[in-house]
Parts: sequence; structure tokens; C-alpha cells
Amino acid sequence: MVIKPVVKGLLTFIPGVSRILPKGRTGGTNRASYCLEVWLKHLALLRASGMRAIPRTLAELGPGDSIGVGLAALLSGVDRYYALDVVRFSNTVANLAIFDELAALSKARDPSVSDERIARIRGAIASPGSERDGVTIEYMVPWSDIRVLEPESIDVIISHAVLEHVVDLESTYRALALWLKPGGMMSHQMDFTSHRIAEKWNGYRAYPEFLWKAIVGRRTYLINRQPCSVHLDLLEKNGFEIVSTKRVVRTDGIRRSQLARRWRSISDEDLACSDLTVQARKR
Ligand SMILES: C[S@@+](CC[C@H](N)C(=O)[O-])C[C@H]1O[C@@H](n2cnc3c(N)ncnc32)[C@H](O)[C@@H]1O
Repeated sequence: MVIKPVVKGLLTFIPGVSRILPKGRTGGTNRASYCLEVWLKHLALLRASGMRAIPRTLAELGPGDSIGVGLAALLSGVDRYYALDVVRFSNTVANLAIFDELAALSKARDPSVSDERIARIRGAIASPGSERDGVTIEYMVPWSDIRVLEPESIDVIISHAVLEHVVDLESTYRALALWLKPGGMMSHQMDFTSHRIAEKWNGYRAYPEFLWKAIVGRRTYLINRQPCSVHLDLLEKNGFEIVSTKRVVRTDGIRRSQLARRWRSISDEDLACSDLTVQARKR
């Protein structure tokens, strides 16, 4: 099982190889129904955590194949949407196709979504980066500088299946804290399973560091292997109040005795947590 990810990782050390390998896709946001579901899930969780109104300004970390989650948010009444990724997975043609499906789905759910608003959002997708009739869409790729967004300019930040991939968690949480307005809210979902790098869902914690380095190779990102508690600690450290958490606990992973040296002191909770959804408010 470990041979395939090691070979893939090692190939990335050969100059030019990553250019000829097929460009990956993230899956998920290449489907309108998925995008709508993800937005409605975060919206419901944020509302349950005290968010009173649809945010005016929304940022999303790691939108993936399309910016459809943000487009669903714009259809709900968000005016400014900023998407930040490290790989350019999405493009205008795919975003317009997803949007047309999303608009139909949204209208079926809520007939008050006006054709005029749909046309305005469509116009903004076609000319991203500038405000069009009161709607702004910006796709920032690769974002690496905390100054890509103004301090205290964002009402809500979301991410779905992203924070387990982020290489530099410290500076990313610092950026999220800087960009949010005081009282602003965040909702993040993280998947701590192996992403096909090991057979058992947490099997990557059995790999010694030299093997892990070979697996990661020179990829832009893979998984950062950081457990639930690291994310919660970073939220606290960056001035967030954790309003709500939901963990998925699994007992079918590797046993404590199988852990690589790096992970031997991990808590039982972290070892068993395969998924975290968290809502937090900037103090
Ligand atoms: C598994 S995909 C999830 C995509 C989408 N959110 C979904 O639900 O289908 C992970 C995404 O996170 C992005 N990503 C990885 N590191 C990132 C970072 N430091 N900042 C922003 N996005 C990042 C990847 O490029 C990719 O788009």
C-alpha cells in the first residue's frame, strides 16, 4: 500500500515530471449539488452558533475545482466573496457551468431569488477581481501573503476539507484572525483520514519521518497530519472563542503500539478523531 504514494512522492523530485503528470482535481466542488450542500451546512452551523444575518463579506480557504460554494453563498445574499487557494483548480468556464446549475437549484428552493441577482452574479463570475453591480468575486491563487486581504474586512470565513492540507498552519490561522472583523465568525470542516496514503484511516501515523518525507516529495501540499487538538489550540492562541465542535470518533484505526515515534505522545482523543467541524468567533 505504501509503495504507490512513495513512488508518487519520489517522482516529484525529478525536474519537469510534475509538469507532465496529469493535473489533479480535488473532486467535490465540481458538482453543483455538493457546493450547495457545503454552503447550507456551514450556514446552518454558523446560525446555530449565533450568526444573526447572512454575511456581506465571505472568504473561503481552498475552494478546489470550482468556486461553487461561494457562488451558492452569493445566491443567498452575500455581496463580496474572496476565494483563496494555492493551486489554480477552477476556471471561469467551469464556474459559469456550476453557477447555472446552482441558480436553478437555488430558485427551486427559494423562488424569491431574482433573475436580476442571478444575472449580476453571472456578470461578476465573467469578470472576476472587480466589483460588478454590487457583487465582488476574487479568486486569489496562489495566495501566500497575509496582505491579500485587508485586516478586519471579512464577516465570515469558511473552509471544507482544507485545513488538514495546509502546510503552514501557524501563519494561516494568524491570517484568518487578522482578516476577520472583531465578532466575525468562522466554520471549518477537516478530514483527518489517510487520503489514500495508508490502508487504515490513520495509518499515516505509523510511517517514520524519512518515509513521510519521501511520500510528500515536492508536492505543493499533501496532508499535514496535525490532529484535532492542534487546530483547536491554534484557534485559542489566535484570539478565537470556540463556539461549537463536532468530532467523528473512530476505533478502527491503527493501535497506539503501531505509532511512529513522532506520534507516540498523541492523546487518545486525537488518535481517534477522524473528522472535526468547528465554529469559532473572533473575540
Ligand atoms: C480536498 S480539496 C477541498 C476542496 C473543496 N473545499 C471541497 O470541499 O471539495 C483541498 C483544497 O485545499 C487547497 N489548499 C491546500 N493548502 C491550502 C492553503 N494553504 N490555503 C488555501 N487552500 C489550500 C487545495 O489547493 C484544494 O483546493
